[in-house]
Amino acid sequence: MKIALMGCGTVGRGVFETVRELSAVLGARCGRDCVEIKYILDKRTFGEPALDALTVRDVGIIAGDPEIEVVVEAMGGTHPAFEFCMACLQNGKSVVTSNKQLVAEKAETLFETAKKHNVQFRFGASVCGGIPVLRTMFYSMAGNEITGFAGILNGTTNFILTKMIREQASFDGALKQAQAHGYAEADPSDDIEGRDTCRKTAILASIAFGTHTDPDGIHTEGITGITAADAAYIDGAGSRIKLLGIGEKQPDGRIYTIVAPAVVPAGRILADVEGVFNAVSLYGTKVGEIMLYGPGAGKDATASAVVADVLDCARTPGFDPVYSWETKQDGRLMPYQEKSLRLYVRGNAGDKAAALSDIREAFEDVTVLTRDNAPQNELAFITGKAPEKTLSLLLTQIRSFVPAVKIRCPEL
Ligand code: NDP
Ligand code: HSE
Repeated sequence: MKIALMGCGTVGRGVFETVRELSAVLGARCGRDCVEIKYILDKRTFGEPALDALTVRDVGIIAGDPEIEVVVEAMGGTHPAFEFCMACLQNGKSVVTSNKQLVAEKAETLFETAKKHNVQFRFGASVCGGIPVLRTMFYSMAGNEITGFAGILNGTTNFILTKMIREQASFDGALKQAQAHGYAEADPSDDIEGRDTCRKTAILASIAFGTHTDPDGIHTEGITGITAADAAYIDGAGSRIKLLGIGEKQPDGRIYTIVAPAVVPAGRILADVEGVFNAVSLYGTKVGEIMLYGPGAGKDATASAVVADVLDCARTPGFDPVYSWETKQDGRLMPYQEKSLRLYVRGNAGDKAAALSDIREAFEDVTVLTRDNAPQNELAFITGKAPEKTLSLLLTQIRSFVPAVKIRCPEL
């Protein structure tokens, strides 16, 4: 079987190497003699004969070649990735992508086109790199209604947080290391500002709840506001700060989704997921909670997921309605401030005793936190449980205390 590769950076190179190394084995796994890459579309000149000999600049060559059955897109971004994928689908090629921005923003049109031309559009590598989360949700949980998910969905930010906590690394130094490993997005602000996790959360929500979830509708916060002081307070309480993507179906049918740093209590597996690893809890009405764990980014791990999708396309090339979701249903997202939870709060007080008294009066069930070498006027605590908007309003009303940072403590 002949395939083509659009984009030969971190992920594309992993796919190239895997196919070259396992060509005959992969062929046997999809009923062919072998799997071969016939074309590589990229802007770069690689200076490596094995890659340069296959390189083309015109998507028309790939889309117009009847020998090509499956096209892998690993360029990133929406333009021209969307137009290139559309050209391939319209010419009867199945498309496999690792590009979550493309899926989160354009899936509906891509599904429609794949359906019209009876080919596959698959994107298993777009969420959690090498972890088979999407096929678990689409196929293995088909006997359930999926009621929610919560996970560490971005390897770069988890790597940074781990380095900051374990090795007291600086934020910028840890980010540079993540980039050197090939974990980060081309624009790393997509990682650290939470946009990458937002796109993945939108994809998970679309699968879990069956209708398209617009990433623009998901409240998103990144990790740039997290300080060593907050990590120390939360660590001291036996918990960890993690950037989570959460989706939950509410009893009234509305969907709660959020992307934000969260306090994960010790004892929850998510608290111990470190480095580039990701993990996701999925909640089903029959199975209860299941958790998937593994490498969330990187060349080989992501290639593993891409190549599995390529083989699926070869084995069953026609459109698979199970591997898709319905078009948008407006009005399902619940305002995130309505969610009941606890908040971790750090701030300053001129008179700490007076502030603590006011804080205890405002919030029920307050836990005061400590850390070594805290400045004299610093105060950190966890509130009792109430709707987020109520907690935020109460915080503004306490005159003796100036909040600087708040981090949600969701019930997981
Ligand atoms: P890279 O930037 O390493 O690779 C992208 C490649 O595509 C580069 O060679 C780039 O060339 C090329 N390219 C970009 N635009 C064009 C274009 N218009 N025409 C031709 N070539 C183009 O990205 P990654 O491999 O890291 O990521 C690719 C996709 O996979 C992204 O969507 C990413 O989010 C996703 N992903 C990445 C993972 C990872 O661990 N890195 C894991 C899972 C998903 P140039 O560099 O010259 O722009
Ligand atoms: N930049 C992404 C991450 C790549 O760090 O998780 C994998 O999707």
